[in-house]
Order: sequence, then C-alpha cells, then structure tokens
Amino acid sequence: MKKILHVTSSIFGDGGQSSQLAEKFVNNWLAANPGASVIRRDLDAEPLPHISAEIFTAFTTPPEDRDEQQRKHADLSDQLINELKESDVIALGLPMYNFGIPSTLKAWIDQIARAGQTFKYTENGSVGLLEGKKAFIFAARGGMYKNTDKDSQTAFIQTFLTFLGITDIEIVYAEGLAMGDEKKQSALISAANEVDLLAVA
Ligand SMILES: Cc1cc2nc3c(=O)[nH]c(=O)nc-3n(C[C@H](O)[C@H](O)[C@H](O)COP(=O)(O)O)c2cc1C
Repeated sequence: MKKILHVTSSIFGDGGQSSQLAEKFVNNWLAANPGASVIRRDLDAEPLPHISAEIFTAFTTPPEDRDEQQRKHADLSDQLINELKESDVIALGLPMYNFGIPSTLKAWIDQIARAGQTFKYTENGSVGLLEGKKAFIFAARGGMYKNTDKDSQTAFIQTFLTFLGITDIEIVYAEGLAMGDEKKQSALISAANEVDLLAVA
C-alpha cells in the first residue's frame, strides 16, 4: 500500500499558505491513489526537541547500551525515520521565516539525519540511504526570491534531501504574499494551479 508523508511547519497551522498548498497536493495524491494512506506530521502543533549533545549521544550509543532517557530520545528519532522510510512520497510545506526554514522543521531535520539509518559515510563521501522516493515542496514567502541567492531555503532543503538519497524533488512557490492583496491572490491562484498539474500517480 502506498504512503505519503505530509509534513507542515507553519506557525499558522492548517491556515498557513504552505500548509494549504501541501494539503491540496496530498488530497490530489490520495484521490489518485485509492487505498493509499497518509502519515501526518504537524511540526508546529507537535514540536520536536531541538538536537542537543544528550540527544546526539543517544543516537550514537549502541541500542543495547542506552539508558532509559537515551532510549526515549532514540525511539522518537527512529519513529520519525520509519515514517520517512515507509513513505513513497513526501509533501513538505515550507514557510519562509526570517530568510530561513521554521526552527520546528530544522528540529525534524536534526532528528532524521542519522548515520547508518538515513545516510552513511564511505571512502567516497556520504551516501543517502532513502532511495526511490519523491519529494514535493510547497514554499510560501512574503517576498520574491526564487532563483536568487537570497533563497537559501530551497537550496538547503534540496541539499539535505539529496544527502538522504531523495533526489527527485519538485518545488511549487507561492511568492510575493506580503506584496499587496492583488499580488498575493494571483500568486496563490497560480501556485494552486501548479499543484493541480503535479504528477500524482
Ligand atoms: C515571523 C515571520 C517571519 C517572516 N519572514 C519572512 C522573510 O524573511 N522573507 C519573506 O519573504 N517573508 C517572510 N515572512 C512572510 C511569510 O513567508 C509568509 O507569511 C508565508 O505565507 C509563510 O508561510 P505560511 O503561511 O505557510 O506560514 C515572514 C512571516 C512571519 C510570520
């Protein structure tokens, strides 16, 4: 059975523009894949702990040597990684806050980047271990940055997903959302139209 992992991080919850675009895509995908299921991760509603030395040490301690607290840290990370591994498709809402990704999304990234689980180091560099997946990114921002060096956000997300082996990535942008009502409405309509054109089969 096919699965989609639906990850959002807008501080406005389901009302966020990135959340709404991601949800529209997930609904299209579910409609095109009868019997498929969705795993939901709202990182704003349920924030994850930020990485710390304690958490990182839990990850790198062999499972049989972990104490109770370390086991809890590793179990949470394992669960998040399993959600990714189980999924064929990832739909990721990507709001821009202060030129970066939401800190809640960074916390998720720090939980799923695990040597030996989602990537490994080799003599030739790192190799991603999550193969055969497709990611769809729904980027919402107040200004216009697509294809400029101010858009560190999408470059970072692409670099990170590629590092994990997820190389098939499509990005839909809703830009200029803080540049007046007219611009906002036309950006949202055009992003929604783009979502409807994405391959969902
Ligand atoms: C705290 C905060 C910081 C923001 N920083 C930026 C920014 O640096 N650049 C920008 O273009 N828009 C910025 N915006 C506008 C958001 O990118 C825009 O509201 C977008 O819709 C956010 O996605 P969301 O609706 O899914 O939360 C910011 C908005 C908020 C609330």
